[in-house]
Amino acid sequence: MSGFNTNNKVVSWLDQRLPIFSVMHHSAIEYPTPRNLNYWWNFGSLAGFILVIMVLTGIFLVMNYSSHTSLAFDSVERIMRDVNYGWLLRYLHMNGASMFFILVYIHMFRNLYYGSYKAPREVLWWIGIIIFLMMMGTAFMGYVLPWGQMSFWGATVITNLFSAFPIVGEPIRTLLWGGFSVDNPTLNRFFSLHYLLPFVIFALVFVHVWALHTVRSNNPLGVEIKTPADTIPFHPYYTIKDLFGIGVFLMFYCAFVFWAPNFFGEPDNYIPANPMVTPPHIVPEWYFLPFYAILRAFTQDIWFISAKLQGVVAMFSAIIILFFLPWLDTSKVRSAKFRPLYRQFFWLFLVDCLVLGYVGGKPAEGVLITIGQIATAYYFAHFLVIMPLLGKIEKPKALPASISAPVLKEKA
Ligand code: HEM
Repeated sequence: MSGFNTNNKVVSWLDQRLPIFSVMHHSAIEYPTPRNLNYWWNFGSLAGFILVIMVLTGIFLVMNYSSHTSLAFDSVERIMRDVNYGWLLRYLHMNGASMFFILVYIHMFRNLYYGSYKAPREVLWWIGIIIFLMMMGTAFMGYVLPWGQMSFWGATVITNLFSAFPIVGEPIRTLLWGGFSVDNPTLNRFFSLHYLLPFVIFALVFVHVWALHTVRSNNPLGVEIKTPADTIPFHPYYTIKDLFGIGVFLMFYCAFVFWAPNFFGEPDNYIPANPMVTPPHIVPEWYFLPFYAILRAFTQDIWFISAKLQGVVAMFSAIIILFFLPWLDTSKVRSAKFRPLYRQFFWLFLVDCLVLGYVGGKPAEGVLITIGQIATAYYFAHFLVIMPLLGKIEKPKALPASISAPVLKEKA
């Protein structure tokens, strides 16, 4: 690998046998990065940072957690009260999950705004979606572990969804449960997978960054790197910027951990799980709410297709559709900076997702049902109608010749 030289004989000896130092030098120090990345490009490294925090705090939590239905709730309470700094570990982990989703949602919307999913970054985008799906599974199973009322009833509602599928539905549900209801075997398999999946996510993040380094970063202008003047080395410019981002993020994260640790939580989950008492209003964690709203938007059976099945299919399709986005977006131009029409639809889509989130958190009654249905229809229309059409009818603004051209114009 080019560019790596050292006088240290031990480092050199090792590097000739296993080029870890060369690889690190190549990909984290000299890696040519667009010179114009703004702060929205901090969110990938922030997501990686919180992933590490989640794994570390998780490992220590497990040392005092018991994955048995008769012990789980009390073991978590013991962590909170008796284990040294157990409260800190738990609050870091609990709020870390919400932070992870905030960061990744911002990361995804950044990609939507700047068209980072477009060629040649389709595979990078796909790996991101797979990571997102894994994160959702991990978070869902993690929420079941404290075995509170919401853990139990959330798990019951979500696993029951699978039974909507004809023929395979029931066997899948039984497999998830490990029996005939949400019970001890369910808790055990969720615990096992909740521990396993973050390591799979880790591996996927490596592949994600590998794909990124193969096709190189997009940038706010959405034009590819053309000359060496378009780039700067990753270190020290972006290492320091990423560190600064981590500092700011830590302030935000710690504010919740120390001052409002239950802000994102649901009070019902401090009541031990009771299969005989259904809570009046079962809600998933906030980061699932838009998808929950899509699930509940379907209220009429159509012929032999139940409303439940329609909702489940729509909910999964809401994510699957993202895989096709690189082709549904027919525009030649990447960045919304140069796409006056798309820019407006982007914000409308963001508002639509927020509306879905709001509706998902409220009881499905009255006008909220209609609002949820309109917002669901708009969600799919954005991808299936608006994106393909915009590329054809929009007149994008003129693109700069290169990343450095607008900055270096005066010198030229
Ligand atoms: C554990 C979660 C994730 C981690 C740790 C992660 C990490 C990163 C990092 C470090 C970068 C480069 C810096 C940046 O552009 O911000 C990046 C870029 C990117 N990520 Fe992720 N990512 C995650 C999830 C996702 C998801 C869920 C998606 C999409 C569904 C996604 C799609 C992309 C794309 C398209 C890029 C290239 C952006 C560009 O060059 O403009 N990532 N990711």
